[in-house]
Amino acid sequence: MNGDHDDGIIDDESALTPMVKRVFASTPDARLRTLVTAFAEHAHAFVREVGLTEAEFQAAIEFVEGIGKANTDTHNEVVLAADVVGISTLVALLNNPTEGGQTAAALLGPFWRGNSPRCELGANISRHETGALPMFVSGYVRDEDGEPLSGATVDVWQASPVGLYENQDPEQPDMNLRGRFTTDAHGRYWFETVRPAGYPVPTHGPVGALLRAQGRHPYRPAHLHFMVSRPDYKTLVTQIFADDAEHLSSDVTFGVVRSCVGHFEYREGTEADARLNRPHYVFSYDLTLHPGVSEFPTPPIK
Ligand SMILES: [Fe+2]
Repeated sequence: MNGDHDDGIIDDESALTPMVKRVFASTPDARLRTLVTAFAEHAHAFVREVGLTEAEFQAAIEFVEGIGKANTDTHNEVVLAADVVGISTLVALLNNPTEGGQTAAALLGPFWRGNSPRCELGANISRHETGALPMFVSGYVRDEDGEPLSGATVDVWQASPVGLYENQDPEQPDMNLRGRFTTDAHGRYWFETVRPAGYPVPTHGPVGALLRAQGRHPYRPAHLHFMVSRPDYKTLVTQIFADDAEHLSSDVTFGVVRSCVGHFEYREGTEADARLNRPHYVFSYDLTLHPGVSEFPTPPIK
C-alpha cells in the first residue's frame, strides 16, 4: 500500500501523519491550527525517531497522569515539569527579547502567589525571626530610554535562608518573604529582607523520579524573583541570582541568564544608620520595562 489514499482509512503507518494533518487543517482558528498541526508533526516524528515501544508509551501516560495527580493548591507539578526540561525558560526568552534594553525575563516558576501583601517602601518582608543577616535590596525601574517609571509595582518573592518558600514551610508565617512595592517619583524601589538560600525543587512527584533517573541534582542557585508591572508596559517576570551561589552553573530549571546574575554584597556594618550598623548584605538591581500590554500570569498556586 502506498498510503496516499484520502478516504479516511489507513493503509499503513505511513498514512497516519498525513491523515492527521488533513483533519487538523480544518481547525477554524488559524493559530490553533498552526499549533496542533506542528505538534502532531513533531510528536509523530519523535515517536518514529526513537521507535517508541508500547511499554514506553504506557510509562509516558503514567508520567503525565502522575504530574496531574501531584498538583495541589500549594504545589504545581505541571509548572515544575515544564521548568526542568527547559521549556519554561525557552518560552520566557523567546517572548521577551532584550534588544531594546529590556531586562531579560526568566521563568515564573511554581511558587508565585497572587495578591501578596502591599508594602511601604523600605518594609521588611522577612516576617519572622530567623537569625539571618538582613539584606537591603534596591534599584530603579526604568523604560528603555532610561526614564524612571514611578508608580510601577515591584512584586518580589523568595525562598528563606533555609531554602523553603513559605507555602512549603509551616515555620513561616503566611506570605512570608513576599511583598509588592510601588516605585517612588524617581522610579526607585527598596526593601529589607534576608538573603535567600538555593533550594532543591520538590522531588516527591514524577519530576523528582525523572531527575533521579537522569542522574541530575534538583537544586536551583539562590535567587530573588521579581514581577514588575505598570500600565502600558509588558509585565516583566525575572529572577536575579547571586554570583557566588552554589549550583549557579547547573540550575535544574536552566534559568540562569548571564545578565541576571547580580552580587549580594556583604558589608561589616559600620554605617551611622542604626539599621546598617551591623553585618548585612546589600543588593542593587535596576529593572527595565518594554512597552506593551500589562497582563499577569495565572498564579501556579493559591
Ligand atoms: Fe525560586
